[in-house]
Amino acid sequence: MHTTKQERKFIETVWRYYTTHGRHDLPWRNLPKSLSEADQTYYILVSEVMLQQTQVPRVLIKYAEFLAAFPNVRALARAPLGDVLRVWQGLGYNRRAKLLHVCAQEIVQKYNGNFPRTYTALRELPGIGPYTAAAIMAFAYNEAVPLIETNVRTVYLHHFFAGEADVHDKDLLPLIEQTQEKENARTWYWALMDYGAYLKQTLGNQNTRSRHYTKQSTFKGSDRQLRGMLLRRLSQSSQSEASLVVTCTPFTSVQITTQLHNLMREGLVERTRRTYRLPR
Ligand code: ADE
Repeated sequence: MHTTKQERKFIETVWRYYTTHGRHDLPWRNLPKSLSEADQTYYILVSEVMLQQTQVPRVLIKYAEFLAAFPNVRALARAPLGDVLRVWQGLGYNRRAKLLHVCAQEIVQKYNGNFPRTYTALRELPGIGPYTAAAIMAFAYNEAVPLIETNVRTVYLHHFFAGEADVHDKDLLPLIEQTQEKENARTWYWALMDYGAYLKQTLGNQNTRSRHYTKQSTFKGSDRQLRGMLLRRLSQSSQSEASLVVTCTPFTSVQITTQLHNLMREGLVERTRRTYRLPR
């Protein structure tokens, strides 16, 4: 299908923004040329998992440290989960660290440490959803698979769905496909993300008009805060619930019991008799 005049103008706008204002210096966009393809893909996977629920500035602080500790997929796969959680500290949503760890183990076991090259095979890996698989296709392999995330949504909502509410990703998809720069998928999606981040800053959040919009919940006093606190305490030393109750203010012992239970169920915490610790 041919692109319309509106679509061609749109493509030009995105490229113009990127050329003059793009975030060209992000580390995951400037990987050392000396890395093997498997290592490059691994570096990209780590960045994408970190960036999913965490802002760029916070990821920048952790990215180099994480890769220094776990420089390739084998190193991550053989590390104890507790060590991975210790380095993950500060990024939040710690389940992601566990999924990344399990994913690395599967890549080593099933693919001998090499990432699969197709969207379908990537999707079958634990923790790799539609967004992450598309991001690896674009950023690691420079292959165009429609990619939808918050900044990309912002761009298409602004340009093609002005004033409309409750817009479904299904409505965005044909436009995303139609305007993809197929020969240059990697740079095109970088450009869209940067342009979307800029639109969000200048126009406010467009994504409230997306059917898929979810507000990140308040952190203070939340289960998310308590879970992070428990993991931080346990990464310093293994200890009893009674001692956690003393240091995890202002949370109640009922909240602490509940979250310890949830963390154990998810495999993020282990217990021997009365002592809780990070998994070895
Ligand atoms: N570059 C590549 N992936 C990115 C992401 N998810 N957010 C911001 N910049 C990126």
